[in-house]
Amino acid sequence: MFTHAITRKPGDNFARGITNSNLGTPSYELIMKQHEVYIETLRSLGLEVIVLGALQDFPDAYFVEDTAVVTPNVAIVTNLGAESRKGEEATIETVLGRYRKTVRIHAPGTVDGGDVLMVGSHFFIGISERTNKDGVGQLGRILEEHGYTWTAVPVEVGLHLRSSINYVGKNTLLITEKFAGYNEFGGYDKIVLNKAEEYAGSTLLINDCLIIPKGFPNTRKKLEPMGLDIIELDVSEVRKMDGGLTCMSLRF
Ligand code: GLY
Repeated sequence: MFTHAITRKPGDNFARGITNSNLGTPSYELIMKQHEVYIETLRSLGLEVIVLGALQDFPDAYFVEDTAVVTPNVAIVTNLGAESRKGEEATIETVLGRYRKTVRIHAPGTVDGGDVLMVGSHFFIGISERTNKDGVGQLGRILEEHGYTWTAVPVEVGLHLRSSINYVGKNTLLITEKFAGYNEFGGYDKIVLNKAEEYAGSTLLINDCLIIPKGFPNTRKKLEPMGLDIIELDVSEVRKMDGGLTCMSLRF
């Protein structure tokens, strides 16, 4: 059960963050509204939500998921893979230190938390443009030292592993067609996303509730038989910045 989430407000410079989406200019007013609804939704699910202030030097910093991997036994503060994002991690370490022992990933290793998927006591770690082999090795060793198992997975499409695959409970992965073919995910039931709805892969499981992006009816239909509550949130402006529902919080 998650009891806490850490989030960070987008700054008025958020549109200067990294994006390859080509979905148009995002609106500051609208992203602030969407972010507020996101926080209220987490609160409505019983989580204590810590809301950090925007970081003016880091327009992507509201994507806090990338700054740490939080497990029940340890919080691993990452070393972000994108040059423009290096430094976001520092303030997160101070906050996480109130709840967990913290350890760090060190250069030359890089890890973005969006490349890490926790399924019970097992972790899938994506090797991507942001998370390199050295970072995967460091993270894997730390996880083993704290009683966890892990598997490395190549991320050949999408920004992060969790852009394409997330755990939705009951031994089930919500997953794009490409990743569904990987042997690494062989032991799980799979709900395979339609090509046109791959963005819904960023669905977020909070305890007994699935938070899904608004506007993906086919995915919703496929998830309904899971028997979990489903909440749809509009994250149009977040999507324009290559982000999704999972990216905007650290849950623990
Ligand atoms: N804009 C999110 C990222 O590229 O990390």
